[in-house]
Amino acid sequence: MNDAGSSRSAMMATYTPPDPVFVAGSGTELTDEEGKRYLDFIGGLAVVSLGHAHPVVSAAVAEQAATLAHVSNLYKNALAPEVAVTIDRLVGGGTTRAGGQVFFCNSGAEANECAIKLARKWAGPGRHRVVAALGSFHGRTLATLAATGQPEKHVPFAPVPEGFVHVPYDDIGSIAEALEGAPAAAVLLEPIQGEGGVVVPSSDYLAKVRELCDEHEALLICDEIQTGLGRTGHWFAFQARDLRPDIVTMAKALGNGMPVGACWARAEVAAAFGPGDHGSTFGGQPLALSAVRATLGVMEAEDVCGRARRAGARLGAGLAGLPGVVEVRGAGLLLAARLDSAQAKEVAARALAEGLLVNAVRPDTIRVAPPLLVSDAEIDQALGVLQRVLAEGKAQEGRS
Ligand SMILES: Cc1ncc(COP(=O)(O)O)c(C=O)c1O
Repeated sequence: MNDAGSSRSAMMATYTPPDPVFVAGSGTELTDEEGKRYLDFIGGLAVVSLGHAHPVVSAAVAEQAATLAHVSNLYKNALAPEVAVTIDRLVGGGTTRAGGQVFFCNSGAEANECAIKLARKWAGPGRHRVVAALGSFHGRTLATLAATGQPEKHVPFAPVPEGFVHVPYDDIGSIAEALEGAPAAAVLLEPIQGEGGVVVPSSDYLAKVRELCDEHEALLICDEIQTGLGRTGHWFAFQARDLRPDIVTMAKALGNGMPVGACWARAEVAAAFGPGDHGSTFGGQPLALSAVRATLGVMEAEDVCGRARRAGARLGAGLAGLPGVVEVRGAGLLLAARLDSAQAKEVAARALAEGLLVNAVRPDTIRVAPPLLVSDAEIDQALGVLQRVLAEGKAQEGRS
């Protein structure tokens, strides 16, 4: 057996990737080991928002790697305070600081783990419950798995940590009931459910949740790990609703591919953490933060929010006109197209063979989340591939 074969079988079977092995990327394009080129309309699942190998981010990381990759959090580091201020300003809408504080970590799950611990510490004993939504996804660590509103995913790992209650998404009455039933530290929600199928709640839902949280002295945690940093046409999706969350978690696009996450909290809430309450060896290390500083700088210079809105309108309109598409959901460049049959996996596989990456987020729904710098020509090219793939699928259905 050659090395590639043996290394593949040496991996745990937690993923079932299809055949191409991608070895290079540039902008919206990926190249496999055979030299075939693909349009990446999944963007590493909303990670590479500036596209693959963005020159400014790559240069910043290369320079930092050659200067100082890591210092322990036992010591101060030059980048963390500066990057935290930028994140605080983006949480505040881009121009004014929100007045919060940031904890840096390495992934989305860790950002949520931090949020849950912080909310519990803030609330104090006896008020540790967190209300979350069915259909949500918050991560794969034991606590974030317990927070994830997909009970079937808990079963093989039972018992998961207790203290999480799940209510139907976009149902304000059930949140009210859960908060009236017993004291809670927090309500944890995605402003748009990503993994759950790109589900957009009613326009007044989050504002009403905020009112209930105030009434019951519970924190509102917005999980912006997939929706954050320009993806939906705002720095954070909650900003479309003029909302003030107490805690905001982010990761994915934050480092344009460098593993990094962050948990932002209002200063009075953040004050619940003291030295030793939380930590991470790698969290906030200079290498990752060099990527964050460069990524956020380019995002602001390129007005990614405006670009996501404009490109999203073009892509959404195009998707809506494709054969067999019965609904387009989402905001900005986080979009899902629901098909008239449960063919999403087949469509994603055929699109891949034709050189386009999209993903089946539900049996009848494909999701697209291309880089925010995607061009109109690339959008039209991707729509052309989907048009062919869906029309062929229809023709096959007609023959069988
Ligand atoms: C909304 C949301 N929260 C949390 C996570 C977990 O992030 P990570 O895989 O970086 O731990 C994800 C990942 O898809 C997500 O979409």
